[in-house]
Amino acid sequence: MSVHYEIKKITTETLRNMKFDKEKITMLTAYDFTTAKMVDAGGVDSILVGDSAANVMAGFETTLPITLDQMIYHTQCVVRGVERALVVADLPFGTYQSNPEKALESAVRMMKEGGAHAVKIEGGKEIEESIRKIVNAGIPVCGHLGLTPQSIYQFGTYKVRAKEDAEAEKLMSDCKLLEELGCFAVVLEKIPAALAKKASESISIPTIGIGAGQHCDGQVLVYHDMVGMNQGFSPKFLRRYLDLYTEITGAVSRYVKDVKSADFPNDQESY
Ligand code: KIV
Repeated sequence: MSVHYEIKKITTETLRNMKFDKEKITMLTAYDFTTAKMVDAGGVDSILVGDSAANVMAGFETTLPITLDQMIYHTQCVVRGVERALVVADLPFGTYQSNPEKALESAVRMMKEGGAHAVKIEGGKEIEESIRKIVNAGIPVCGHLGLTPQSIYQFGTYKVRAKEDAEAEKLMSDCKLLEELGCFAVVLEKIPAALAKKASESISIPTIGIGAGQHCDGQVLVYHDMVGMNQGFSPKFLRRYLDLYTEITGAVSRYVKDVKSADFPNDQESY
């Protein structure tokens, strides 16, 4: 007799209940099938197909250049590798800010063609109508406040946001707004831990922090950073769980040596 174990898929409802039950939510990025499969098997609750793909996959300095077609491609690859986690996909810069109709069109493409389970967009009050339109169409939306990398040319720096009262107050009122609009969660990036705590306690939807301290309802990191593939990126908030840069370059140089010396392939590795 074969036993079938049904995998319990994570939904936006699951995340909401986790906040209620005070169980921390885990999220990591992925951009391709093989990584998504490993990240899902490792047990994360949610996989973010972040527009950080522009940085770590394509080598751009900012997230601005990546297109909706490219994000849809990455999302399709990830979705094929995932059995359990909730797949949230970023809508890239320029695909939702200009008007609500365009925002809905972009979100629909991401769901229909990409196969995402939800979309993430950056901003609060400024994009209120776009969020309303997408949520009203039945598409789950995750907000993103604090350091919003798509606005980097306005900020001029990747330093901690909302340290001053005015920006902190705006962040608090944007959190409330996102909750009222029906967002299922909000990413809080690079803000003081005390502010993230206050925000997390003031709304019923989960906050997922990156560089926002331990009081958020969950945490997200960029996969390439947490496995140590990026040597040049060491912000204070990053914990590296592996040093894959060293591991992989070491493996590559051993392979180069073995081929050059005709050690590889040997008789057992030949037909
Ligand atoms: O694009 C991304 O990876 C993100 C995370 C940093 C939250 O938005």
